[in-house]
Amino acid sequence: MNSLLECLNKKLPKVTPIWFMRQAGRYLPEFRKIRSKNSNFINLCLDVDLSSEITIQPIKRFDLDAAIIFSDILLVPYAMNQEVKFKEDIGPVLSDFSLKKFNLIKTSDFKEKLSPVYKSLTKTRKNLNSEKSLIAFSGAPWTLLVYMLNLKSSENRLNETFFSKKKLLNQTINKLTEFICLHLDNQINAGADIIQIFDSWAGLIPYESLDEYCIKPNMKIVNYFKKKGVPVICFPKGLKNNYKKFNDVVSPDGLNIDYEIDPIWARENLFNTCLQGGMHPEILLGDEKVIINEVEKYMKTFKEQPYIFNLGHGILPQTNPEVLQNIIKKVKSFNDR
Ligand code: CP3
Repeated sequence: MNSLLECLNKKLPKVTPIWFMRQAGRYLPEFRKIRSKNSNFINLCLDVDLSSEITIQPIKRFDLDAAIIFSDILLVPYAMNQEVKFKEDIGPVLSDFSLKKFNLIKTSDFKEKLSPVYKSLTKTRKNLNSEKSLIAFSGAPWTLLVYMLNLKSSENRLNETFFSKKKLLNQTINKLTEFICLHLDNQINAGADIIQIFDSWAGLIPYESLDEYCIKPNMKIVNYFKKKGVPVICFPKGLKNNYKKFNDVVSPDGLNIDYEIDPIWARENLFNTCLQGGMHPEILLGDEKVIINEVEKYMKTFKEQPYIFNLGHGILPQTNPEVLQNIIKKVKSFNDR
């Protein structure tokens, strides 16, 4: 068992495992080279050879403990027949959502459309050192819904009227939960050994609706994979103190804290899970001494419990790759136990 899986099984490994959210991406010149020749991002994700190559790029450069498949959370809405476009300075824009059409999607068509992702995972597993984990991922139902209804660009639409559309919301969340489990299941069968669920927009949900749109759907997915013995790491970004409620109720194998969470508060409030991440990605853009001090802060805070080093959100595109090398060295040589 590698150190990442040891941690998720609540064991304390000799050396703290480390990987980075968005480690396969825009801060790497070798990624930008491939990207410049492939203008359609979704098609790039669905290119078996290139997506596998991009997945391995950070592993070739750095001593990381896991690869995360190069794909995107928006491939699920894409496979559920919504058009996905990336607009410069705006981000992803999806075609209009129709609940009627959405309810007609068949699992066989969904699986067929995403089959390149599964083939890429199998190919990557073959080329990856057997000691390293391969991480499968999905967006959580709520975060996918935010993109599917294009709510991100107009947060003010998330008002009482929006939350009163219970039928639309509940039906969509339930169907998404079912298809997310299927997508993750297929990724595991193709060769992944850990799951991460990104609920990047959980922080937009008002407290009264948190159970219904964040906690329950995440719990359904976690419980589905608990029965199969596959570890799941949840990332309900932006929940602030409600991270505690989330952890108490959902009880995932791993919990990624975001950069707003005080690590000491996390240690004192988030129990029976393996904590991951936390450090602000913006710190990686600054002074080297400050970076190393911050790495030490997280390592010292969590030295007596299983902890996976990562960030409190994805690596920023402006990050100098050299910085990662220094962080990895610091984490791997930390022996203040
Ligand atoms: O982590 C990895 O390296 C694996 C690949 C991965 C990508 N996206 C590749 C990507 C993963 C795990 C994601 C997750 C993802 N995608 C999330 C959850 C994590 C988070 O950041 O909150 C979300 C919300 C998305 C949706 C998405 N995809 C957005 C908003 C954008 C545009 C802006 C941005 O953040 O880059 C993308 C595009 C995207 N996904 C790129 C990459 C490498 C950039 C593509 C490019 O323009 O070159």
